[in-house]
Amino acid sequence: MLKVGIVGCGAIGSYLAGTVARRYRKQIRLTGVCELNAEKVAALRRSLKTKIPVYSLIELIKHSDVVIEAAGAGVVPKVVDGAVTLRKDVMIMSAGGLLMHPRLLAKAQSRGIRVYVPSGAIAGLDALKAAKVGTISSVTLTTTKPLAGLAGAPFIIKHNIDIAAIKKERVIFEGSALEAVAAFPQNINVAAILSLAGIGPKRTRVCIVASRRVKRNIHTIEIKGDFGTIRSCAENVPSELNPKTSALAMLSAVAMLEGMIDSKRIGT
Ligand SMILES: NC(=O)c1ccc[n+]([C@@H]2O[C@H](COP(=O)([O-])OP(=O)(O)OC[C@H]3O[C@@H](n4cnc5c(N)ncnc54)[C@H](O)[C@@H]3O)[C@@H](O)[C@H]2O)c1
Repeated sequence: MLKVGIVGCGAIGSYLAGTVARRYRKQIRLTGVCELNAEKVAALRRSLKTKIPVYSLIELIKHSDVVIEAAGAGVVPKVVDGAVTLRKDVMIMSAGGLLMHPRLLAKAQSRGIRVYVPSGAIAGLDALKAAKVGTISSVTLTTTKPLAGLAGAPFIIKHNIDIAAIKKERVIFEGSALEAVAAFPQNINVAAILSLAGIGPKRTRVCIVASRRVKRNIHTIEIKGDFGTIRSCAENVPSELNPKTSALAMLSAVAMLEGMIDSKRIGT
Protein backbone atom coordinates (compact mmCIF):
# COMPACT_ATOMS: atom_id res chain seq x y z
CA MET A 1 0.00 0.00 0.00
CA LEU A 2 1.43 3.36 -1.05
CA LYS A 3 1.05 5.96 1.73
CA VAL A 4 0.40 9.41 0.27
CA GLY A 5 0.11 12.79 2.01
CA ILE A 6 -1.14 15.93 0.32
CA VAL A 7 0.02 19.50 1.00
CA GLY A 8 -2.69 21.94 -0.09
CA CYS A 9 -6.39 21.07 -0.41
CA GLY A 10 -7.28 23.47 -3.21
CA ALA A 11 -8.33 22.50 -6.72
CA ILE A 12 -5.55 19.95 -7.31
CA GLY A 13 -5.14 18.62 -3.77
CA SER A 14 -8.83 18.01 -3.20
CA TYR A 15 -9.23 16.43 -6.64
CA LEU A 16 -6.34 14.06 -5.93
CA ALA A 17 -7.67 13.21 -2.48
CA GLY A 18 -11.10 12.42 -3.95
CA THR A 19 -9.64 10.35 -6.77
CA VAL A 20 -7.42 8.34 -4.42
CA ALA A 21 -10.38 7.67 -2.12
CA ARG A 22 -12.70 6.64 -4.95
CA ARG A 23 -10.48 4.89 -7.45
CA TYR A 24 -7.34 3.64 -5.71
CA ARG A 25 -8.59 2.59 -2.28
CA LYS A 26 -6.83 -0.76 -2.52
CA GLN A 27 -3.47 0.57 -3.68
CA ILE A 28 -3.10 3.99 -2.03
CA ARG A 29 -3.80 5.13 1.52
CA LEU A 30 -4.29 8.87 1.98
CA THR A 31 -2.47 9.35 5.27
CA GLY A 32 -3.51 12.97 5.77
CA VAL A 33 -3.26 16.51 4.52
CA CYS A 34 -1.49 19.73 5.44
CA GLU A 35 -3.57 22.85 4.75
CA LEU A 36 -3.61 26.38 6.18
CA ASN A 37 -7.25 27.06 5.38
CA ALA A 38 -9.63 25.24 7.75
CA GLU A 39 -12.56 25.74 5.36
CA LYS A 40 -10.75 23.81 2.63
CA VAL A 41 -10.19 20.93 5.03
CA ALA A 42 -13.82 20.99 6.14
CA ALA A 43 -15.01 20.93 2.51
CA LEU A 44 -12.70 18.02 1.72
CA ARG A 45 -13.86 16.07 4.76
CA ARG A 46 -17.48 16.66 3.71
CA SER A 47 -16.87 15.44 0.19
CA LEU A 48 -14.84 12.40 1.29
CA LYS A 49 -17.31 11.70 4.11
CA THR A 50 -14.36 10.91 6.38
CA LYS A 51 -12.29 12.77 8.98
CA ILE A 52 -9.04 12.85 7.11
CA PRO A 53 -6.18 13.76 9.52
CA VAL A 54 -4.60 17.20 9.30
CA TYR A 55 -0.90 17.40 10.11
CA SER A 56 1.90 19.91 10.17
CA LEU A 57 4.13 19.58 7.13
CA ILE A 58 6.79 17.59 8.95
CA GLU A 59 4.25 15.25 10.58
CA LEU A 60 2.61 14.68 7.19
CA ILE A 61 5.95 13.79 5.61
CA LYS A 62 6.68 11.39 8.49
CA HIS A 63 3.38 9.56 7.88
CA SER A 64 3.81 9.26 4.08
CA ASP A 65 5.88 7.37 1.51
CA VAL A 66 5.23 10.12 -1.03
CA VAL A 67 4.22 13.70 -0.28
CA ILE A 68 2.32 15.59 -2.95
CA GLU A 69 2.87 19.35 -2.97
CA ALA A 70 -0.19 21.16 -4.36
CA ALA A 71 0.04 24.40 -2.37
CA GLY A 72 2.27 26.93 -4.13
CA ALA A 73 5.80 27.61 -5.34
CA GLY A 74 6.75 29.19 -2.00
CA VAL A 75 6.06 25.92 -0.18
CA VAL A 76 8.26 23.78 -2.46
CA PRO A 77 11.59 24.32 -0.61
CA LYS A 78 10.05 23.31 2.74
CA VAL A 79 8.47 20.21 1.22
CA VAL A 80 11.63 19.04 -0.58
CA ASP A 81 13.95 19.86 2.34
CA GLY A 82 11.63 18.03 4.77
CA ALA A 83 11.32 15.03 2.46
CA VAL A 84 15.09 14.81 2.01
CA THR A 85 15.62 14.95 5.79
CA LEU A 86 13.04 12.23 6.39
CA ARG A 87 14.09 10.25 3.30
CA LYS A 88 10.68 10.34 1.57
CA ASP A 89 9.79 10.93 -2.07
CA VAL A 90 7.85 13.95 -3.33
CA MET A 91 5.56 14.90 -6.18
CA ILE A 92 5.75 18.57 -7.02
CA MET A 93 2.85 20.36 -8.73
CA SER A 94 4.23 23.90 -8.33
CA ALA A 95 7.08 23.08 -10.68
CA GLY A 96 8.08 26.75 -10.87
CA GLY A 97 9.32 26.40 -7.29
CA LEU A 98 11.92 23.87 -8.47
CA LEU A 99 13.12 26.30 -11.12
CA MET A 100 13.45 29.15 -8.64
CA HIS A 101 15.43 26.96 -6.21
CA PRO A 102 17.69 24.79 -8.37
CA ARG A 103 19.56 23.49 -5.31
CA LEU A 104 16.50 21.40 -4.41
CA LEU A 105 16.72 18.95 -7.30
CA ALA A 106 20.48 18.58 -6.85
CA LYS A 107 20.04 17.97 -3.11
CA ALA A 108 17.27 15.40 -3.60
CA GLN A 109 19.22 13.62 -6.31
CA SER A 110 22.38 13.44 -4.21
CA ARG A 111 20.40 11.79 -1.36
CA GLY A 112 18.50 9.36 -3.61
CA ILE A 113 15.12 11.06 -3.09
CA ARG A 114 12.77 10.94 -6.07
CA VAL A 115 11.18 14.21 -7.16
CA TYR A 116 8.21 13.40 -9.40
CA VAL A 117 7.04 16.20 -11.70
CA PRO A 118 3.84 15.31 -13.62
CA SER A 119 3.61 16.37 -17.26
CA GLY A 120 0.94 18.95 -16.41
CA ALA A 121 -1.20 20.55 -19.09
CA ILE A 122 1.16 20.04 -22.04
CA ALA A 123 1.71 17.36 -24.65
CA GLY A 124 4.94 16.06 -26.14
CA LEU A 125 7.40 15.66 -23.23
CA ASP A 126 8.22 12.13 -24.40
CA ALA A 127 9.31 13.49 -27.79
CA LEU A 128 11.21 16.34 -26.13
CA LYS A 129 13.19 13.84 -24.03
CA ALA A 130 13.96 11.79 -27.15
CA ALA A 131 15.04 14.90 -29.06
CA LYS A 132 17.33 15.83 -26.16
CA VAL A 133 19.39 12.72 -26.78
CA GLY A 134 20.46 14.51 -29.97
CA THR A 135 20.82 18.27 -30.34
CA ILE A 136 17.96 20.70 -29.69
CA SER A 137 18.35 24.23 -31.03
CA SER A 138 15.19 25.80 -29.55
CA VAL A 139 12.13 25.15 -27.39
CA THR A 140 9.32 27.70 -27.45
CA LEU A 141 6.10 27.67 -25.44
CA THR A 142 3.24 29.94 -26.41
CA THR A 143 0.52 30.01 -23.77
CA THR A 144 -2.82 31.64 -24.49
CA LYS A 145 -5.10 32.02 -21.49
CA PRO A 146 -8.51 33.54 -20.80
CA LEU A 147 -8.21 36.79 -18.84
CA ALA A 148 -9.37 35.15 -15.58
CA GLY A 149 -6.49 32.69 -15.83
CA LEU A 150 -3.92 35.48 -15.55
CA ALA A 151 -5.57 37.99 -13.22
CA GLY A 152 -3.58 38.89 -10.11
CA ALA A 153 -0.19 37.62 -11.32
CA PRO A 154 2.79 39.59 -9.93
CA PHE A 155 3.84 40.64 -13.47
CA ILE A 156 0.38 42.04 -14.22
CA ILE A 157 0.37 44.03 -10.98
CA LYS A 158 3.96 45.27 -11.31
CA HIS A 159 3.42 46.50 -14.88
CA ASN A 160 -0.04 47.92 -14.19
CA ILE A 161 -1.61 45.87 -16.96
CA ASP A 162 -5.36 46.46 -17.07
CA ILE A 163 -6.25 42.91 -18.00
CA ALA A 164 -9.99 43.59 -17.99
CA ALA A 165 -9.50 46.25 -20.68
CA ILE A 166 -8.06 43.79 -23.22
CA LYS A 167 -10.64 43.72 -26.02
CA LYS A 168 -9.38 40.78 -28.12
CA GLU A 169 -5.97 39.44 -27.21
CA ARG A 170 -2.54 40.77 -26.34
CA VAL A 171 0.97 39.37 -25.88
CA ILE A 172 1.70 40.34 -22.28
CA PHE A 173 4.99 38.56 -21.70
CA GLU A 174 7.97 37.28 -23.66
CA GLY A 175 11.09 35.92 -22.01
CA SER A 176 12.84 32.84 -20.68
CA ALA A 177 11.06 30.13 -18.67
CA LEU A 178 13.00 31.30 -15.63
CA GLU A 179 11.66 34.84 -16.03
CA ALA A 180 8.16 33.49 -16.76
CA VAL A 181 7.83 31.48 -13.53
CA ALA A 182 9.03 34.44 -11.46
CA ALA A 183 6.54 36.75 -13.21
CA PHE A 184 3.59 34.29 -13.16
CA PRO A 185 4.28 31.85 -10.30
CA GLN A 186 0.74 30.43 -10.27
CA ASN A 187 -0.02 30.48 -13.96
CA ILE A 188 2.87 29.03 -15.94
CA ASN A 189 4.04 25.82 -14.27
CA VAL A 190 4.10 24.29 -17.76
CA ALA A 191 7.11 26.50 -18.58
CA ALA A 192 8.96 24.96 -15.64
CA ILE A 193 7.93 21.41 -16.56
CA LEU A 194 9.03 21.97 -20.15
CA SER A 195 12.40 23.43 -19.24
CA LEU A 196 13.15 20.74 -16.64
CA ALA A 197 12.50 18.04 -19.26
CA GLY A 198 14.30 19.87 -22.05
CA ILE A 199 17.02 22.47 -22.45
CA GLY A 200 16.74 24.30 -19.14
CA PRO A 201 15.01 27.43 -17.84
CA LYS A 202 17.27 30.00 -19.48
CA ARG A 203 17.13 28.62 -23.04
CA THR A 204 13.42 27.71 -23.03
CA ARG A 205 11.46 30.66 -24.43
CA VAL A 206 7.97 31.61 -23.30
CA CYS A 207 5.31 33.87 -24.80
CA ILE A 208 2.11 34.52 -22.83
CA VAL A 209 -1.02 35.81 -24.55
CA ALA A 210 -4.02 37.11 -22.62
CA SER A 211 -7.15 36.54 -24.68
CA ARG A 212 -10.80 37.43 -24.38
CA ARG A 213 -11.47 35.08 -27.32
CA VAL A 214 -10.55 31.78 -25.70
CA LYS A 215 -12.19 29.78 -22.94
CA ARG A 216 -9.37 27.25 -22.65
CA ASN A 217 -5.73 27.35 -21.51
CA ILE A 218 -3.90 26.71 -24.78
CA HIS A 219 -0.25 25.60 -24.69
CA THR A 220 1.56 25.37 -28.03
CA ILE A 221 5.09 24.00 -28.00
CA GLU A 222 7.62 24.12 -30.82
CA ILE A 223 10.85 22.14 -30.52
CA LYS A 224 13.55 22.42 -33.17
CA GLY A 225 16.73 20.42 -33.49
CA ASP A 226 18.84 18.12 -35.63
CA PHE A 227 15.95 15.66 -35.61
CA GLY A 228 13.59 18.15 -37.29
CA THR A 229 10.65 20.00 -35.73
CA ILE A 230 7.94 19.00 -33.27
CA ARG A 231 4.79 21.04 -32.70
CA SER A 232 2.23 20.13 -30.09
CA CYS A 233 -0.85 21.94 -28.87
CA ALA A 234 -2.99 21.20 -25.82
CA GLU A 235 -6.31 23.03 -25.49
CA ASN A 236 -7.13 22.68 -21.82
CA VAL A 237 -10.44 23.01 -20.07
CA PRO A 238 -9.79 25.06 -16.90
CA SER A 239 -10.65 23.50 -13.55
CA GLU A 240 -14.05 24.55 -12.20
CA LEU A 241 -12.41 25.16 -8.82
CA ASN A 242 -9.50 27.29 -10.07
CA PRO A 243 -9.43 28.85 -13.57
CA LYS A 244 -5.63 29.11 -13.40
CA THR A 245 -5.39 25.32 -13.26
CA SER A 246 -6.14 23.04 -16.20
CA ALA A 247 -8.04 19.79 -15.77
CA LEU A 248 -5.27 17.90 -17.64
CA ALA A 249 -2.72 18.97 -15.01
CA MET A 250 -4.79 17.17 -12.37
CA LEU A 251 -5.12 14.09 -14.55
CA SER A 252 -1.35 14.09 -15.14
CA ALA A 253 -0.80 13.86 -11.37
CA VAL A 254 -3.19 10.89 -11.19
CA ALA A 255 -1.37 9.25 -14.11
CA MET A 256 1.92 9.68 -12.25
CA LEU A 257 0.45 8.06 -9.12
CA GLU A 258 -0.77 5.19 -11.29
CA GLY A 259 2.75 4.79 -12.64
CA MET A 260 4.06 4.52 -9.07
CA ILE A 261 1.55 1.81 -8.24
CA ASP A 262 2.25 -0.08 -11.47
CA SER A 263 6.00 -0.04 -11.13
CA LYS A 264 5.72 -0.89 -7.41
CA ARG A 265 8.67 1.36 -6.88
CA ILE A 266 7.44 2.74 -3.59
CA GLY A 267 5.66 1.55 -0.50
CA THR A 268 4.85 -1.98 -1.58
N1 LIG B 1 2.12 21.23 -12.54
C1 LIG B 1 1.05 21.72 -13.14
O1 LIG B 1 0.76 21.41 -14.29
C2 LIG B 1 0.18 22.69 -12.42
C3 LIG B 1 -1.03 23.08 -12.98
C4 LIG B 1 -1.82 23.94 -12.27
C5 LIG B 1 -1.42 24.43 -11.06
N2 LIG B 1 -0.21 24.06 -10.55
C6 LIG B 1 0.26 24.56 -9.26
O2 LIG B 1 -0.16 23.67 -8.24
C7 LIG B 1 -0.44 24.41 -7.05
C8 LIG B 1 -1.86 24.10 -6.58
O3 LIG B 1 -2.78 24.49 -7.57
P1 LIG B 1 -4.33 24.61 -7.21
O4 LIG B 1 -5.03 24.95 -8.46
O5 LIG B 1 -4.76 23.44 -6.42
O6 LIG B 1 -4.29 25.90 -6.26
P2 LIG B 1 -5.37 26.35 -5.17
O7 LIG B 1 -5.12 27.79 -4.92
O8 LIG B 1 -6.73 25.91 -5.57
O9 LIG B 1 -4.96 25.51 -3.86
C9 LIG B 1 -3.80 25.74 -3.14
C10 LIG B 1 -4.10 25.34 -1.68
O10 LIG B 1 -2.86 25.32 -0.95
C11 LIG B 1 -3.12 25.88 0.34
N3 LIG B 1 -1.85 26.36 0.88
C12 LIG B 1 -1.17 27.47 0.54
N4 LIG B 1 -0.04 27.57 1.25
C13 LIG B 1 0.01 26.48 2.04
C14 LIG B 1 0.95 26.01 3.01
N5 LIG B 1 2.07 26.68 3.30
N6 LIG B 1 0.68 24.83 3.64
C15 LIG B 1 -0.45 24.14 3.36
N7 LIG B 1 -1.38 24.54 2.46
C16 LIG B 1 -1.15 25.69 1.80
C17 LIG B 1 -4.15 26.97 0.10
O11 LIG B 1 -4.85 27.30 1.27
C18 LIG B 1 -5.02 26.31 -0.96
O12 LIG B 1 -6.10 25.60 -0.39
C19 LIG B 1 -0.24 25.91 -7.39
O13 LIG B 1 1.05 26.31 -7.00
C20 LIG B 1 -0.32 25.93 -8.90
O14 LIG B 1 0.47 26.96 -9.46
C21 LIG B 1 0.57 23.18 -11.21
